[in-house]
Amino acid sequence: MSERLDLTAPVPVSFTVNGERRELVLEPRWLLSDVLRHRLGLTGTHVGCEHGVCGACTILLNGAPVRSCLMFGVQARDADIVTVEGLESANGELHPLQEAFRRHHGLQCGFCTTGFLMALIPAAEGGPMTEEDFQDAVAGQLCRCTGYVGIVEALREVTGSHPEPAS
Ligand code: FES
Ligand code: FES
Repeated sequence: MSERLDLTAPVPVSFTVNGERRELVLEPRWLLSDVLRHRLGLTGTHVGCEHGVCGACTILLNGAPVRSCLMFGVQARDADIVTVEGLESANGELHPLQEAFRRHHGLQCGFCTTGFLMALIPAAEGGPMTEEDFQDAVAGQLCRCTGYVGIVEALREVTGSHPEPAS
């Protein structure tokens, strides 16, 4: 008789989080968002909808924004993960995008903010953007407070983008 695969059996997994190698034993059913929050104490990754709609749980996985509620922790094996806790520099300075959010009032309750920051980091570290680029950059993230204006202004500032003249 063939051996049955036990999908509930914990498995060893290792990955890097904010520059630190982490070795864990995880049940395959654990979502990556829950691993980050409950196993590693990185509660800056927020969980809203838990099914890929709101973007609150966004992290960087190998440099790309990913919704951590849509992945199992075991799928992050050998990945390089950055959470919002990893944005701050070693001497405690905020990332320029975080500073710009603060200056432009890009947050109110803050629930969506960490997901926005992580989703916008690749754009923030790129070059100037068009108005259409701004729309695309925020399209996948939900905020029920800000109206998005301050968020776009923060991104405009850090990318050195100028408003397009009204036609
Ligand atoms: S909690 Fe992951 S997309 Fe909403
Ligand atoms: S600041 Fe409250 S949900 Fe975005």
